[in-house]
Amino acid sequence: MKNVTVVDHPLVQHKLSLMRDKTRSTKGFRQLLHEIGMLLCYEVTRDLPLEMVEIETPLQKMMAPQIGGKKLVFAPILRAGLGFVDGMLELVPSARVAHIGLYRDPATLTAVEYYFKAPEDVADRLVIVMDPMLATANSAIAAVERLKERGVNNLRFVCLLAAPEGIAKFHDHYPDVPIWTASIDSHLNDHGYIVPGLGDAGDRMFGTK
Ligand code: PRP
Ligand code: URA
Repeated sequence: MKNVTVVDHPLVQHKLSLMRDKTRSTKGFRQLLHEIGMLLCYEVTRDLPLEMVEIETPLQKMMAPQIGGKKLVFAPILRAGLGFVDGMLELVPSARVAHIGLYRDPATLTAVEYYFKAPEDVADRLVIVMDPMLATANSAIAAVERLKERGVNNLRFVCLLAAPEGIAKFHDHYPDVPIWTASIDSHLNDHGYIVPGLGDAGDRMFGTK
């Protein structure tokens, strides 16, 4: 599938299976999302440009590679996207964080915005939007739309599970925004849930059901 990377690393796949299990505790679910967040972060940053800078080891001066350009922005879609943030920040501690508050109206499945806060110069940075679930893609599209309104052009989207319908709709709107996911599941059910999926990610993560 064009512009979609499925992260099939055995650790990611193993941890994802543990998360899908309906008997997994809230604590276990949260811990696994944190761990997978780190592994997905490793993949989504794989091609970041490096620049050579002069450093001095205890033995001599050398030119050494460092990540160039402005700091990244991690943009979790609330609530469930928050589950990725700490793991990603462990790998990229200097990243900025934008918060995008959206909930899915259960009747219409449209995304309703309730909060948005991003760094002032967000347009000058690479923004990695994150949400465990890409179902209808209404939330992901609303998040990207909001960031584009702020002038952001350099965007990536990271999720845990994606429905084929969601990927197609997202790329109809934003073919230029690449997606990283741990799995492309079978389909959406009549309530817009990913099948086989893992249920409601936010509820499982925060223990609200
Ligand atoms: C869930 C999930 C995504 C969205 C995906 O959020 O975390 O944000 O649904 O569905 P979509 O692709 O059809 O838009 P939800 O609205 O349940 O909010 P929550 O994270 O606060 O629980
Ligand atoms: N949001 C979720 O949390 N789970 C789904 O399966 C679909 C949307």
